Amino acid sequence: MDQLGGATHMNFVATEAAEQKLLLRTYDRHPILFTRGEGVYLFDDQGNRYLDLLSGIGVCGLGYNHPVINKAIVDQTATGLLHTSNLFFHDHTASLAVKLIEITGMDRVFFCNSGTEAWEAALKLARAHAGLLRKEGKTIGTRMLAMEHSFHGRTMGSVATTHKQKYREPFHPVMPGVEFLPFNDVEALRSAFSQDICAICIEPLQGEGGIHPVSQEFFAAARALCDSTGALLVADEIQSGMGRTGKWCAYQHYGIQPDVTTLAKPVAGGLPMGAMLCTEEAARAITPGMHGTTFGGGPLACAVASAVIDEIKQSDLLGHVAEVGSYFVSQLRELAAKHAAIAEVRGTGLMLGVDMHSSDLAGEMQQRMMFEKRILLNRTSETVLRFLPPFLITRQEVDFTITALDELLKEYEENGAKQNTFAGEAVHG
Ligand SMILES: Cc1ncc(COP(=O)(O)O)c(C=O)c1O
Repeated sequence: MDQLGGATHMNFVATEAAEQKLLLRTYDRHPILFTRGEGVYLFDDQGNRYLDLLSGIGVCGLGYNHPVINKAIVDQTATGLLHTSNLFFHDHTASLAVKLIEITGMDRVFFCNSGTEAWEAALKLARAHAGLLRKEGKTIGTRMLAMEHSFHGRTMGSVATTHKQKYREPFHPVMPGVEFLPFNDVEALRSAFSQDICAICIEPLQGEGGIHPVSQEFFAAARALCDSTGALLVADEIQSGMGRTGKWCAYQHYGIQPDVTTLAKPVAGGLPMGAMLCTEEAARAITPGMHGTTFGGGPLACAVASAVIDEIKQSDLLGHVAEVGSYFVSQLRELAAKHAAIAEVRGTGLMLGVDMHSSDLAGEMQQRMMFEKRILLNRTSETVLRFLPPFLITRQEVDFTITALDELLKEYEENGAKQNTFAGEAVHG
């Protein structure tokens, strides 16, 4: 088959046309049709191989076609049980709960199907917990503090706590009672906090906002303020959790334990799953019937998530992420020292961002990396090239990436940016 006119390309053309006609216009997809994956590589319908530094926006931590995940899926499907409902027990819920509680330092877990659902559960818990404290005679209100440049998902509560106006405004009125604070501004936090606040919402490493870590001082101040009133410190680890930063949760880099945390993206190796975890104190607020989900915590997702955690432990992937992540960041910093177009390199482990001075150049770099170098990454916050590779990526693949970035930046310095035909909007998630 030739590269553009063959049957496989026709599949792409037909797929694109059908999607454009049939799907709600929520996504601006890149013109690539993936047909298979292996390790840290994806293959398109024309046989091109791409080094994947995005892993499905932070989902496929163990990459593609991983034998441990495949085995867990095959073993579970062999039982015939894909779903049983939350009215009954199955084999994998409690054993997965034990593992998640151990790695997060929490006491209880609620299983769901996505990040935004986990975050909604956390918000509902915060309101319910404050209600319980009020019944017990404490003075505590219903308002929440969230951070500028935060991203917590797309459902109504999640968008209400997500900073960017374009995610909230079309859907007004969203959940009331949320105030946004400048991230890492301790004074602003102290002056906004009062007994009216039931939760402080923090991404310990902001993802969609452009890879910004919380400062030790700010996180510690939030912890102390919550302790002073009984408000909940809620840490969103949907993007940064499950090993991505070289620890199970990014908050573990700070030695600060939140009251509530949320996990999702890589939890079940590519199957949809979310989890909200909390302390026993917070969990007192929820009684049967107050919250739930049909699909959450089903046997297939739980079996796979259990296998993912075991594999991360057995192969010491936290150590690997920390090691290869610090190599990656050091190489990116060397690149930044060579190229004035890079403003800053940020991040921890394998959650990294390269902030460019120009959003046009960031857009062009992302597209040229994808289509010329066949390296997948994305752009967030307009100027930031974001790297969320599978945990399995090696130093050799980092070197390959650095060489590709270096070549494109040199070309840009010699010729100026190409006419940017890819400006578009940065892709979020
Ligand atoms: C920090 C954070 N919270 C919440 C979400 C929402 O997760 P989901 O898209 O699975 O609903 C995301 C998704 O990117 C995220 O990065």
